[in-house]
Amino acid sequence: MAKKRNIIVGQSGGPTSVINSSLAGVYKNAIERGFDKVYGMLHGVQGLLDEQYIDLSTQIHSELDIELLKRTPSAFLGSCRYKLPEIHENREIYEKLFEILNKLDIEAFIYIGGNDSMDTIKKLSDYAIVNGHTQKFLGVPKTIDNDLALTDHTPGFGSAAKYIGASTKEVIRDAEGLTYNKSMITIMEIMGRNAGWLTGATALARQEDCDGPDLIYLPEVPFDLAHFTEKVKDLLKKKASVVIAVSEGIKLEDGRFVCELGISSDYVDAFGHKQLTGTASYLAGYLAAECGCKTRAVELSTLQRSASHMASRVDIDEAFMVGGAAVKAADEGDTGKMVVIDRISDDPYMSATGIYDVHRIANEEKLVPRNWMNKDASYVTEDCIDYVRPLIQGDYQPIMVNGLPRHLVMNKSVVKSAGRRARKKAEE
Ligand code: F6P
Repeated sequence: MAKKRNIIVGQSGGPTSVINSSLAGVYKNAIERGFDKVYGMLHGVQGLLDEQYIDLSTQIHSELDIELLKRTPSAFLGSCRYKLPEIHENREIYEKLFEILNKLDIEAFIYIGGNDSMDTIKKLSDYAIVNGHTQKFLGVPKTIDNDLALTDHTPGFGSAAKYIGASTKEVIRDAEGLTYNKSMITIMEIMGRNAGWLTGATALARQEDCDGPDLIYLPEVPFDLAHFTEKVKDLLKKKASVVIAVSEGIKLEDGRFVCELGISSDYVDAFGHKQLTGTASYLAGYLAAECGCKTRAVELSTLQRSASHMASRVDIDEAFMVGGAAVKAADEGDTGKMVVIDRISDDPYMSATGIYDVHRIANEEKLVPRNWMNKDASYVTEDCIDYVRPLIQGDYQPIMVNGLPRHLVMNKSVVKSAGRRARKKAEE
């Protein structure tokens, strides 16, 4: 029987500014390794279940397209937050998925995502082995949160950290200019849910030309509002502008998110994650009343994960590299694994790819260690800053058109026909 030679790749979870570089890495390596077709799932496994996919050769036509894709933020294929049911809960979904994979003659299924997405790789590879399917299932790490286990860091984190470091400097500079004869408190809210890696990256702003933020609060340690207020009041006695970085996910000792104290969102996703927003705005209102001065909340929100104009070269290159490594692993017969990045040295910075059993990664969270925070957990240590700094180095110039970065966007006519096919099938 002829060897199956098609690959399907999907993107899942919160996007990053380099997730498409991993897609480019998968595509380029798959073609170079002689795979026949490279399909892309539209909106991950959720779209695939509706037979939403494209042949990527209809989208990527040249080396320039590859370069554009590497510099295009957000998920080119569309993403999803979709939790596959346990196999015993709904076998039909698995049967349907494998029917689609068999129909497309898929040999390797590659999923670019974070810990929730690795749950999908784990379940599909388990199902394939038990039921005698030969497809290989490989995970490609991705998340700005940097909370995946067993990898030194995750693609997406370095670029978000670079943007956050630069934005923190800019926010500090802006506030300094406006505090003649009056005080001002600025609270910056950074993404990261339960892991404070990105919030810690605000400390990168501390350089020869900038003092960096005054206080940094990560979600790993319970947040003490009274102690925090005391610290801010003390700082205001010494300086006019106080800049504080907080994680969106900081929680009180009783487990309530700080954002729940204010006007927050009730939205919860398929993995049970509450939408975290409003921490900075709650604290800004609270401190305005407590300290009687002007306050401002800066929620970096999606800007921090989509700022490809500020992406790190190390990050874009590593994102591409892990995509390629997943194709190689699948081609060599691995399955149920995720590619990891091993740090070989800091100076000069060097890394290589490795591979680990996805069962040891899915649904796990790697948090900032307590000893990378100071005594009262109001700042990160030099160890933490030294860990992040190599990951933000270098730039990839955006390809500028009319003064703005050019992105590679989906050829909509192909997408529509895929949608039409799926709808027609649903009607039959
Ligand atoms: O998982 C990555 C992430 O960016 C988290 O840092 C953040 O909490 C979450 O996604 C936000 O997700 P959404 O855009 O779906 O609200």
